[in-house]
Amino acid sequence: MNEQYLANPKEKQSVKLSIKSLSKTYQVKGVEISVLSDINLEIYEGEFVAIVGGSGCGKSTFLRIVSGFIQDYVGKAQINGSDIHAPGRDRGFVFQESRLFPWLTVEENISFGRKNKHEKNSKKIDELLTLVGLTNFSRAYPQQLSGGMAQRCAIARALINHPEILLLDEPFGALDAMTKVTLQEELLKIHEKDKTTTILVTHDIEEAIFLADRVIVMTPRPGKIHKIIPVHLYHPRNRNESAFVEIRKHIYNEFFTPPKQEIEYSI
Ligand SMILES: Nc1ncnc2c1ncn2[C@@H]1O[C@H](COP(=O)(O)OP(=O)(O)OP(=O)(O)O)[C@@H](O)[C@H]1O
Ligand SMILES: [Mg+2]
Repeated sequence: MNEQYLANPKEKQSVKLSIKSLSKTYQVKGVEISVLSDINLEIYEGEFVAIVGGSGCGKSTFLRIVSGFIQDYVGKAQINGSDIHAPGRDRGFVFQESRLFPWLTVEENISFGRKNKHEKNSKKIDELLTLVGLTNFSRAYPQQLSGGMAQRCAIARALINHPEILLLDEPFGALDAMTKVTLQEELLKIHEKDKTTTILVTHDIEEAIFLADRVIVMTPRPGKIHKIIPVHLYHPRNRNESAFVEIRKHIYNEFFTPPKQEIEYSI
């Protein structure tokens, strides 16, 4: 196990998610395909971590293991020291497309999966509507929302039960560039407000640097952790500032430089 990916025991931060020697294979037509290989990682309480890596390297698979949707993996995955063995309300999930229920209004979508259905929690819903800027659209139906508004609603829905971890799988991947930037800023504000431990999968390196405390760069399949790059910049981050640009270059280089191979010379 590579110790550099584990929390420093001297640090006061508590570990929210612990992943040890995690591997995952899929069976496709009788052939075993290795998708994740020996992942070791600790994510601290309140931390915002981004995962970047090529298509098919296992990012969504990783999130689905943490969410509890995938249970047939090798290794250990724990939240607050307890094994993850099923989906639960302690994890909120946002997908690339909003996946809202079209027959429910915005506020009904947000409150649909709440833990205490009998509890009067309109205050909580109002807070979430304000947090994601949808107060005036609480009675609207999904087909009346723009793509960005639908994703805001999906984020509010994922936060309804105060999850231990918020899992975001390319949540802004289908949005236009302007809406994307606005939602990144809003996600940052949400995170600064409630400090939910967050894991964001994204193809957008700039988005990862803008939001995350650490950026995890995965190798191509089978996905392994190639590098973990801390982003020591104050928020709100300026995408044109030299330190930001330097980190972007660094990550691009890690991303696109193929592993060095031995070259054999024949004489
Ligand atoms: N249920 C499944 N059965 C078989 N193979 C699967 C299954 N789900 C995913 N795979 C394969 O596992 C690999 C990793 O898939 P995954 O969706 O985790 O990748 P990803 O990194 O999220 O890719 P992308 O960036 O394109 O979303 C891919 O090769 C995919 O075809
Ligand atoms: Mg994916």
